[in-house]
Amino acid sequence: MTKQILQEVRVFSPATVANVACGFDVLGFAIELPGDEIIVRSSPQPGFRITKITGDDGRLPLDPKLNTAGVAALDLLRHLGRTDLGIEMEIHKQMPFGSGLGSSAASAVGGAFAVNQLLGEPLTRRQLLPFVVAGEAAADGAWHADNVGPCLLGGITLIRSNAELDVHNIPIPQNLWAAVVHPDIVVLTKVAREIMPRHIQLETSTQQSGNLGGLICGLYQSDYALIGRSVHDLIAEPHRQRLIPEFYRAKREALAAGALGFSISGAGPSVFALCEGEATARQVAAAVATVFESVPIKATQYVSRINPQGVHVLSQK
Ligand code: HSE
Repeated sequence: MTKQILQEVRVFSPATVANVACGFDVLGFAIELPGDEIIVRSSPQPGFRITKITGDDGRLPLDPKLNTAGVAALDLLRHLGRTDLGIEMEIHKQMPFGSGLGSSAASAVGGAFAVNQLLGEPLTRRQLLPFVVAGEAAADGAWHADNVGPCLLGGITLIRSNAELDVHNIPIPQNLWAAVVHPDIVVLTKVAREIMPRHIQLETSTQQSGNLGGLICGLYQSDYALIGRSVHDLIAEPHRQRLIPEFYRAKREALAAGALGFSISGAGPSVFALCEGEATARQVAAAVATVFESVPIKATQYVSRINPQGVHVLSQK
């Protein structure tokens, strides 16, 4: 039996840190802030429409077929055979573009999650994965779930296979904090992917696998020293660091301030550090922001626990 359709649903969809240094395209975690707010409403007029977008400086299209949130929502409605339904969507962007914080993933997840909620949750969160990956792929042209996975499911997620969307939540050590700093420059994911190496030395691949395995073990065992030894990226960081002014100085300062490990958040330019405890995370974020500000580049700090919840409902009626 078809469930009652709600009148209105408001959701918050958080930023994410993809790759986590050693897990290129296969590891990511959600943070508390920033994030996007998405509102969907039932409408007597049939069809799906995006009626309002704020916080995007006019950059995002209202045409749902060209908009990440719209693509994910439309894909879901098509799957459910409900494209006839009257639904209006508002997107309130509250995070920067091209920032390495999973902005398009947050919109894709928020769009599909909000519509699913409006329809009385016909699908589980996990069942929404193919629609949200398709939404994000519409933005950056690549099929990877390391932003949408943690945004949708919360916490830290490992993607065993992007093709099969075999996605798993990894335990979050109780005192693990993230210090994320966004230098106010734009790096397009497409460009950051184009400069990735096509071939990797066997020794490099072996060490990166060791680091990824070590990080997963460290997270399972709440072994902060092992986490610190493992948060190293031998594949993307050496190539992408040149897109981020003063990257290595920021890294030195972060480690000197007590970070367990430091690298690029997703495709950059944001950077992140994993830290034991809030006080250390705040010191690390401040030290890294000071480096960018000396360039000078405006830097925004986000210090948070790993967000276990991911996308969630703010209100519904
Ligand atoms: N894993 C992706 C990358 C994240 O590093 O290109 C960016 O969306």
